[in-house]
Amino acid sequence: MEFVIKTVAVIGAGTMGAGIAQVAAQSGYQVVLFDLEQGKAEQAKSIIAERLEKRVANGKMSLIAKDTLLDAMYCSDALQDVAGADLVIEAIVEDLAIKQSLFRDLESICREDCLLSTNTSSISVTSIASALAKPERFVGLHFFNPAPLMKLVEVVRGIATSPTATEAAKAWSESCGKHAVITRSLPGFIVNRVARPFYAEGLRALECGVADVQDIDQIITQAGQFNMGPFELMDLIGHDVNYAVTKSVYDAYYQDKRFTPSLTQKELVEAGFLGRKSGRGFYCYDGSTDKPSVNLAQKYVLPERLSVSLLGDWSGVPSFVELTQLPNSYSNEGAPQLCVNDIIVTPTQGVTASELSEQLQSPVVVFDYCQDYGASDIIAIAPALQNNANQTEAVIAYFQSKGKQVLVLDDYPGLILWRTWVMLINEALDLVNQQGASLADVDVAMKSGVNYPLGPIEQGERLGWQRVLDTLTHLQSFYCEERYRPSPLLRQFTIKVKGGAA
Ligand code: NAI
Repeated sequence: MEFVIKTVAVIGAGTMGAGIAQVAAQSGYQVVLFDLEQGKAEQAKSIIAERLEKRVANGKMSLIAKDTLLDAMYCSDALQDVAGADLVIEAIVEDLAIKQSLFRDLESICREDCLLSTNTSSISVTSIASALAKPERFVGLHFFNPAPLMKLVEVVRGIATSPTATEAAKAWSESCGKHAVITRSLPGFIVNRVARPFYAEGLRALECGVADVQDIDQIITQAGQFNMGPFELMDLIGHDVNYAVTKSVYDAYYQDKRFTPSLTQKELVEAGFLGRKSGRGFYCYDGSTDKPSVNLAQKYVLPERLSVSLLGDWSGVPSFVELTQLPNSYSNEGAPQLCVNDIIVTPTQGVTASELSEQLQSPVVVFDYCQDYGASDIIAIAPALQNNANQTEAVIAYFQSKGKQVLVLDDYPGLILWRTWVMLINEALDLVNQQGASLADVDVAMKSGVNYPLGPIEQGERLGWQRVLDTLTHLQSFYCEERYRPSPLLRQFTIKVKGGAA
C-alpha cells in the first residue's frame, strides 16, 4: 500500500502534540490537532502563535509564514474530524490500554490508506499495534522534546509494521527537515537505551566517592566536549522522568543487571528533589553557589631535576603527544608511557594505577581521556596508592606547566570520561548486534537526539576497538559484574581488525 501524505492529524495537544503539530504545519502539511479535553487544542494553538509572534518580532520568521502556518492548523474537539487524515500521530498519555483503545477507534474512523503512528517513548510499538486489525500500517514516530527544535525522529518498526509503512514514515519525517533513523521496537529504542551508561557511569563514580558532581560534569563537558554533564542533564530532564526511563528499560530487559537503576537517583525522586523543575536535584537552583571542588589540585612547582620522555605506542593519542611537545621518536611498541622522572604516566585502559604499579614495580599515575588534550583546560588523573606524595606532585606540576587544571581522583578503574565512552560504545554495539539499528543510524541518533559530540561508533573507531575491549575486560574482572561484559559485536570487530578485513 502506498501512503500519500498531505493532511496530518495529531492526537493529544500537550507538550509533544503541540510541538509535532507545529513541525507538520511549518513543513507545508494541513494539520488537524485533536485533544480529548475541550479547548485544549485551541489553547495549544494560542501558545504556538505566541511563540511564532516572538520569532516574527525577532526577524526570524516572516509574518506571512506565521499566518500560513497557523492557517494550516485546524483545532478540533471531535475525533471524527481526523477522518480525512493521511497520517495520524498519537501523542496522548503514556498508557498502553488508553493508546490501544484510541487506535481501535481510529481504525474505524480513518481511511485504509492512512498511516497510523505513535509518539510513545517507552511502550512497545508492537504491543500497541496488537489492538489493530491491520497492524502493518502502524509505526512509531518518536520525536524529541522540544519537537520543533530537536532534529531527530526515531522511526520504530513493530513486528508487523510493513516496510512500506516504515519507509513512508521515514520519508515524511525527512520532509519535515528531521534526521530520521530506523529502529526495532526494542526497549528504549536507540537514544533512551544507548544513553543509559552516560548517566549510570556518572552516578556510579559519585556513589563510589571518586569525584563530586561538579568535577564529573566538568570532566565530561570540558575534557569530553559534551554539551552537558550527566548531573546537570539529569537535573534538566527531571529525576522522576530519568529514573522512570532507566527503570522501564531495566524491567523490559528482564532486570538485566547492566541497566540497574541507581539508588542515589531513587532517593532524589523519593525526596522530591526532581532537578530544575523542583528547585533542587544534584544542584540547588535557589541562587546559592556550589561547593568548591575537592579534587582540584593546588599549584605545585616542578622538581628542579626533571626528565620527561615518551615510550611505547602513542599512535592512538596524537593530541597528547602534541601537548607534551616531546620529539615524536617513540618506539610504537608496548603500552604508551610518559616518564616523568621515575614515574610512569599512562592513559587509563581500565586497570587501576595501583595494579599497574605492582605489575611494573614503579610509581604510576593514570590519566583520563580528553577528546583533545590541547583544547581541554582540565585533566583528571589518579595516582597509585604506592606512590609517595612527591612523585604524584611532580606529575601534577608537569600537567600544570602545560596549562592544565588537574583533578586528582581516587584510583578508580577506567576513570570517568574514558569509562563513559567505552560503555556508550559497548551499548551501541549491543543494540546493533540485536538488529536494533544500523551502525550509521546509531551515530545519527546520538548526535542529533542528545547532541553527543561524536557518535559512539565513530568514537569507537577513533579510540580503537581493541582498547575498548581491553578496558571492558579489565572492568569486568575488577568488578566481577555482568554490567561490563563486552558486546559480542565488539569482539567481532577486534577480530576483523586483526585479520585486516574490517
Ligand atoms: P502531555 O501530558 O503534555 O499531553 C498529553 C495530552 O494528551 C493532554 O493534552 C491530554 O489531554 C491528551 N489526552 C490524553 N488522553 C487522550 C485521549 N484518549 N485522546 C486525546 N487526547 C488525550 O504529554 P506529553 O509529554 O506531550 O507526552 C505525550 C506522549 O509523547 C507520551 O506518549 C510520551 O511518552 C511521549 N513523549 C514525551 C516526550 C516528552 O519529553 N514529554 C518526549 C517524547 C515522547
